[in-house]
Amino acid sequence: MTAIRSVVLGCGSYLPERVLTNAELASRIDTSDDWIVQRTGIRERHIAADDEFTSHLAIKAAQAALTDAGIDAQSIDLIVVATSTPDNTFPATAVAVQHGLGINHGVAFDLQAVCSGFVFALTTADNFLRAGSHKRALVIGAETFSRILDWNDRGTCVLFGDGAGAVVLEAQPGTGTTADRGLLTTHLRSDGRHKSKLFVDGGPGSTKTVGHLRMEGREVFKHAVGMITDVIVDAFNATGFTAEDINWFIPHQANKRIIDASAHKLHIAPQKVVLTVDLHGNTSAASIPLALAVAVKDGRVKKGDLVLFEAMGGGFTWGSVLVRW
Ligand code: ACO
Repeated sequence: MTAIRSVVLGCGSYLPERVLTNAELASRIDTSDDWIVQRTGIRERHIAADDEFTSHLAIKAAQAALTDAGIDAQSIDLIVVATSTPDNTFPATAVAVQHGLGINHGVAFDLQAVCSGFVFALTTADNFLRAGSHKRALVIGAETFSRILDWNDRGTCVLFGDGAGAVVLEAQPGTGTTADRGLLTTHLRSDGRHKSKLFVDGGPGSTKTVGHLRMEGREVFKHAVGMITDVIVDAFNATGFTAEDINWFIPHQANKRIIDASAHKLHIAPQKVVLTVDLHGNTSAASIPLALAVAVKDGRVKKGDLVLFEAMGGGFTWGSVLVRW
């Protein structure tokens, strides 16, 4: 059997310069470093400068990914930007990224699945590449969540940060077996019954405002581990792999407790879990490629490794992607 596989050629990331520590937050609102670290594992987050937009972070991450892949931006014919914090209501942030990279051909569009955005975007790009319509894709997760936080709400503002990460995918011939390099299986889900548990209380079509992030934290926590493990079991069932076979588990970096509980439930060994939430907080669609770029750069993720991504977020939306590096 032959198949087209979306093989990862490179990855990169970008965090804004400004670091906001738990201690600085505690000097402004009624919280503490202890509370934040114990409940979430977060120690600091990065905040975009006033004149730094989501597209600017995305372009820097994309340039790093193109350099890592060793390819020219002109060979990209598909750009998918996962974001819930676009520069403007329209046009898509992806076209600003396309223009910023000097690309005038192909197609660029945004995808909105909140914290699951990166796994949704990877899956979407994979489907374009496997369909044969496009050859090389930039898949980017980029967010400026600092712009939609209510900085007086200690239940949410301590959790999120800004950043961007990107990967370059290329359509390559494979055998169709799980020995191939590239994306091996993808599983996406959503359930709108939970749309009010994590949402932004504004929008062009309702309030005509941007709005602020609102969350029932305990409710999100309650559903997160079950949903995450369900889509990972789907990935295992589709491929025949087990937790033992996985080399690296790179989850959405929302909260260390959710990540630990999910890994424990799935019997994934703690040393296989890539954790960077302490360094940037929850950066929504950007968090997986941010963590990935760290683990690739420090030499943990190597060619041939099985790498498992998962995410869950507002909607609720959730999903998993299993890649052979
Ligand atoms: N500092 C100090 N105290 C706080 C803070 C804070 N920043 N925030 C809330 N508290 C207080 C509350 O007011 C409450 O006080 P009370 O008992 O006097 O009323 C107490 O801490 C407990 O509040 P809870 O909300 O019940 O705290 P919980 O233990 O559930 O932790 C948290 C809150 C961290 C938000 C947790 O519910 C959680 O992690 N939920 C998942 C949310 C998440 O990760 N969302 C990310 C988006 S979704 C995703 O990406 C998966």
